[in-house]
Amino acid sequence: MNITILYGTETGNAEMLAEDIAGELEAEHEVSVANLSDFDPAGFDQGRFYLMVCSTYGDGELPGSAQPFAKAMEASDAKLAGVHFAVFGLGDSEYDETFNGGSKRLAELMLTHGAVQIGERVIHDASGSDLAEDLAFPWASEMVSLASERLEEAV
Ligand SMILES: Cc1cc2nc3c(=O)[nH]c(=O)nc-3n(C[C@H](O)[C@H](O)[C@H](O)COP(=O)(O)O)c2cc1C
Repeated sequence: MNITILYGTETGNAEMLAEDIAGELEAEHEVSVANLSDFDPAGFDQGRFYLMVCSTYGDGELPGSAQPFAKAMEASDAKLAGVHFAVFGLGDSEYDETFNGGSKRLAELMLTHGAVQIGERVIHDASGSDLAEDLAFPWASEMVSLASERLEEAV
C-alpha cells in the first residue's frame, strides 16, 4: 500500500515518532513521511493512506508545524471524499482540559472536508507510563490493515 505519514510538531517528538513508524512499515509498504508544514491540502490522493501524527501546544492548539495546514484547510473548499486517514495524538494529561486537543482538531479538519477516518483516534500521554511507540506501532499496523480492506473495496 502507498502510505504517507504526516506529522505536526513543535519540538520534534511527533517527527521522530513518524520516522520510527515509517521504519516499521516500510518493509511491506511504500512509505513517505512529510511535515504538515510542507503539505498542501490540494495534494491529498485517494490512492494513498494517510497516517497523521500530531502533538498539542499552547492551550490545546495545533503545534506550530500544523498551523499553516490548518489555515489552508480552513480557507479551502477541497473535497476529500475517498481520502482515508487515521490520527495518533501526542499530548500530556497535565494539561487536563486541553489534553490532546491538537490531534482532535486535526481529525475534525479532515472530517469537515469529507475525508474518511479509519479507526478511533489513539492518544499518548507524556505523563503516563507507556512509551509512545508502544502504542503507535500496533496502532499503525492495525490502521494499515483496516485501510487496505477499504482501499481495495474502493478500486
Ligand atoms: C508549552 C507547552 C504546551 C503544551 N500544551 C499541551 C496541551 O494543551 N495539551 C496537551 O495534551 N499537551 C500539551 N503539551 C504536551 C506536548 O503535546 C507533548 O509534550 C508532546 O509530546 C510534544 O510533541 P512535539 O515535540 O511533537 O511537539 C504542551 C507542551 C508544552 C511544552
